[in-house]
Amino acid sequence: MNLNLKIWRQKDANDKGKIVEYPIANVSEHMSFLEMLDVLNEELIEKGDEPVAFDHDCREGICGMCSLYINGEAHGPDRGVTTCQLHMRKFKDGDTIFIEPFRATALPVVKDLVVDRSAMDRIQQAGGFVSVNTSGNTQDANAIPIAKENADKAFDAATCIGCGACIATCKNSSAMLYVSAKVSQFSLLPQGQVEAKERVKNMVNKMDEEGFGNCTNTGACEVECPKGISLENISRMNREFLAANFSSKK
Ligand code: SF4
Ligand code: FES
Repeated sequence: MNLNLKIWRQKDANDKGKIVEYPIANVSEHMSFLEMLDVLNEELIEKGDEPVAFDHDCREGICGMCSLYINGEAHGPDRGVTTCQLHMRKFKDGDTIFIEPFRATALPVVKDLVVDRSAMDRIQQAGGFVSVNTSGNTQDANAIPIAKENADKAFDAATCIGCGACIATCKNSSAMLYVSAKVSQFSLLPQGQVEAKERVKNMVNKMDEEGFGNCTNTGACEVECPKGISLENISRMNREFLAANFSSKK
């Protein structure tokens, strides 16, 4: 395939940035999207040009680093996959592909397609720790009965890889789907109950402090989430947040 790439280039956080056009030839349909960018970068380096900076680590849909906006969609046109799992067979010979970084005030561009997602880490840090009794009579986690439905929902929430596609997709740059997954993975399990109230309050407050917007129930986040995190988690987080604040006022 021969493709016409239109890629966001930005030297650093202070640069205004612009779209630059790069034709690329002989792209195999079996390549992943990131392999296609690797080939482009090799060509740029050979010509003495600056390669395009983009984030990646695992390249198997686990780490959540490969956050790209491709033709106006977080992680591109496929469903339930990250950018590293997207294959070039999803495109046609002669296509023009726009490649941009995830955009949100709380996720500033560092360089080209790389954004700073440390605000998301700080929300997780605000959630604190989970208490475990280590005084000599520690209970075996497998010996604590957990309803199957709760175990399944907690597991589903825990599959969030922190990629930020939900934030980049949301018209309000809301982090509610991400934060609600991180709240739910603990709040549905007995081990998460000890600090549950403080956890949800601290995480939601941190989310607001970091400059993420609020949820207006559009649902675009759920559609673009590569891990199928459900909006149900947002309802759960809202209930937990209200209950935590109500009980602390009594
Ligand atoms: S909720 Fe989905 S889209 Fe949002 S950070 Fe987690 S995995 Fe990514
Ligand atoms: S590189 Fe790790 S999820 Fe894509």
